[in-house]
Amino acid sequence: MLDPYRLFLGSILLALGSGCGSEGQACMEVDPSVEQCPAPKDVDRDELRGSCGSKVRRILGEGERVENISDWAWEEKDYVPGCCYPVKESRATCDYGRPLRIEGEPVLAATVTDARWAAALAVTASALAPAVRDELVVRWTRAALDEHASVAAFSRVALDLMRHGAPPELIEQAHAAALDEVRHARHGFAIASALGATPVGPGPFPLGASVPLAPDLVAVAVEAALDGCIGETVASLLAWEAAAVCEEPAIREVLRGIAEDEQRHALLGWRTVAWALRHGGPAVRTAVAEVFAAAAREGVAVPLPGTLDDPMVLARVGLLDRATSLRHAARTLHQVILPAARDLLAERAPPQRQASAALHSA
Ligand SMILES: [Fe+2]
Ligand SMILES: [Fe+2]
Repeated sequence: MLDPYRLFLGSILLALGSGCGSEGQACMEVDPSVEQCPAPKDVDRDELRGSCGSKVRRILGEGERVENISDWAWEEKDYVPGCCYPVKESRATCDYGRPLRIEGEPVLAATVTDARWAAALAVTASALAPAVRDELVVRWTRAALDEHASVAAFSRVALDLMRHGAPPELIEQAHAAALDEVRHARHGFAIASALGATPVGPGPFPLGASVPLAPDLVAVAVEAALDGCIGETVASLLAWEAAAVCEEPAIREVLRGIAEDEQRHALLGWRTVAWALRHGGPAVRTAVAEVFAAAAREGVAVPLPGTLDDPMVLARVGLLDRATSLRHAARTLHQVILPAARDLLAERAPPQRQASAALHSA
C-alpha cells in the first residue's frame, strides 16, 4: 500500500516546483515506587508532555502524583504511573488546522440551536453507547466550529494575498478553500446534530467592525507557514488516519473529503510561502525558517482530547485518541513538514542562519 506520508511530501515538493504560551498541565512517567513527585527544579522539562503535545517552557508549581497517565504517554500502555505539574506550554492553544486569529487568539462562534447548517447526511448511531455518542457530539461540534472559523480565515487570506500582489492562482485557491471550509462546517454540524438531541449550528461570528490584515509579506508568509504548511498538513493526515479506522460509513466519507481538501489547503500554504520567499527578501526567509525551527523544537499541536480516550472505541467512529494523534502528528512533522521545509528553504537560501541550522539538525 502506498505510504500517504511519502505521497504528501511528494505532492508538496511537486507544488513547490522542486511566542507566546499558555498555562496548562503536563505529566511525566515515574517509577511506581515513587510516592512524592520530584520538586519542579529537579524535573527535566523534556520528560513532560503538555496537553497538545507541545514542549513545556516553565513549571509553575508542585507536582501531583497521579495513579495512571496512560492517556498522556507516547506509547500505548494500559498503566503508566505519573506526576502532573501546572506548566506554561510553548503553544498558546491546541488549535491546529486553519484558525482565524485576532491578536494571536483564535476566534470561534458560539453554538446555537439551528438546523440550517445540518446538511442532509445520513449518520447511523443506533449502535453507539451513550458515552461514545456524547463524545462524538462534543468533538464534532468543536470540529465544526473550527471549520466555520476557517471560512473567515481563508477570506482574510484572500484579502492578504490581493493586498500584497499575489498571483491570481493563489487568490483563486484561497477563495476555493473558503468554500471547502463551508462544506466541512456543514458536515461537522450535520454529524453533531444527527448524534445530539438538538440541531446545532454556529451563532454570529464574533468579529469587530474591522479585521486586522497582515501588515507585510513577512506576516503573510509566517501565517501561511504556521497554519497552511504545518496546521493543514497535520489536519489532512490526521483526517486520513481517522478515516482509515472509521467504521461509520457517513463519517468515513466526511473524513476522506476533509483529508483531500485539507491537503489542497496545505499545498496552497506551501505555494504561498514559496511565492513570499521569491518576493519578500531575507526578512521573509528568516521568519519562515524560524516557524519551522520552532516546530522542530516544540512539536506540533493536535486537537484537544475529549473525556473518552479508549482508542478502540474512538477509532470505530473516526476519532483518534490523544496518544495516536500525537504519534501521527510527530510522524507528519518529521516525514513530511520538515523535509519539505528543508527543500523549500534550501534552494533560496543563504546558508548558516541560526534558525535554518536548528531546522537541519532536527
Ligand atoms: Fe477544513
Ligand atoms: Fe482547511
